[in-house]
Amino acid sequence: MLDVLCRHLPMVRLRISLAATFALALAAVGCTGDIIDPEGDPLEAAMQAFDTTVAPTMQTKCASCHVSTENPQFMRPNPTLREGVLTFNTGGLVNMMDPIASRLAVYASSQAHATVGVNYTPAEAAQVTAWVELEALAAGVEPEPVVETAKITPVVGANEVDLTSIGLTGSKMTFDYQPLATGMYLSRIQINASTGGVRLVHPLFVVWDQATAIPDPIDRFSDIDLTVAEMTTSQVGGGTAVFVDIPPQGQLSVHFKTATFANGMPPSDGGGITGGGCKAVPQFTSTARPQLTACAGMCHAGTNAAARGATDMSKLADDLMQTEACAQILSRVSKLNPDQSSIIVSVDPAVTNVHPYYKVPAANFAAFRTQMLMWINAEAAP
Ligand code: HEC
Repeated sequence: MLDVLCRHLPMVRLRISLAATFALALAAVGCTGDIIDPEGDPLEAAMQAFDTTVAPTMQTKCASCHVSTENPQFMRPNPTLREGVLTFNTGGLVNMMDPIASRLAVYASSQAHATVGVNYTPAEAAQVTAWVELEALAAGVEPEPVVETAKITPVVGANEVDLTSIGLTGSKMTFDYQPLATGMYLSRIQINASTGGVRLVHPLFVVWDQATAIPDPIDRFSDIDLTVAEMTTSQVGGGTAVFVDIPPQGQLSVHFKTATFANGMPPSDGGGITGGGCKAVPQFTSTARPQLTACAGMCHAGTNAAARGATDMSKLADDLMQTEACAQILSRVSKLNPDQSSIIVSVDPAVTNVHPYYKVPAANFAAFRTQMLMWINAEAAP
């Protein structure tokens, strides 16, 4: 058991704050010094986690719609509520291999669901993830181990996460940080690779509210598989991330599904996004392109090299390259929470402390947003 827990340490650590609420006999163990229960019964722990953290939230926030209406009835006991949730849609709500990707947490944190129901707060979604991690342990499922950097306290402006602590000596993740009223805005997220280069799969930002880990509820970099050659720098995905409803003064760490040297693999293009590409190119051309023409013309099509490096709109004007033009912007979009897309937030005149170079004039912003959302919602449609 101890061995299993040690191998699952990142997850164990993630749920440690939660473990403190379990009525478990807690003991310090040798593998990292974290406090876990070396002999505890994972099934018992999973049941307790569900009953004390997941179920109460569901009963207050979700039961009105998910017990007996025509909406998905995943809260119907089978025979217990926990088993009902676990078995609903043949297990479709939980992902034991990748607990953070569990549909229960992710979908109920999305804008699509917010339009019809009540969403989890990030902390509540994190409780669901922590519970599913325990279910995975109890079921003997062995998810890929997760690699986690040390925590940093972000400062306004340039920040650096040293990857030496996860074995990639000298390599760094860098980003710029701006606090928002109730969140964080990260931009220019890049990897500077040192000797040996790096290959990073599925970076996940975790914000810490004291001891509570709040993983990015929409897991926006889940499709990143990025290889950076030694002594070079590459952007991570779209290079920006907006986290809302989290303490702007919290600490940050980054988890990776895997983090290794590049081993001679060719560097990735476009921030390492895999399986990307637009499905709503005509919508992009008809609704989004006209909104972005000014941005392209002023800076992003090439007149300003730094602006083009940050968000490349060089294909925007070319009628024959709309698929590529759309893909260039798609990485600045959140399909789960369209109006948190950085392509919208960065130029919102009400968000004054990011992207100071340009704001859409206040009188035009509502129209800009509506037109951009028409395209983004088309990309986000199932
Ligand atoms: C006001 C009604 C309402 C409330 C409250 C509500 N939901 Fe929903 N939910 C819906 C509707 C309607 C759907 C189906 C339509 C859709 O998928 O967008 C849905 C779909 C879902 C789905 C997708 C199910 C599937 O298998 O496709 C999940 C997961 C979900 N809700 C979770 C939650 C959680 C968790 C809560 C509480 C934090 C919650 N919902 C509260 C109305 C609601």
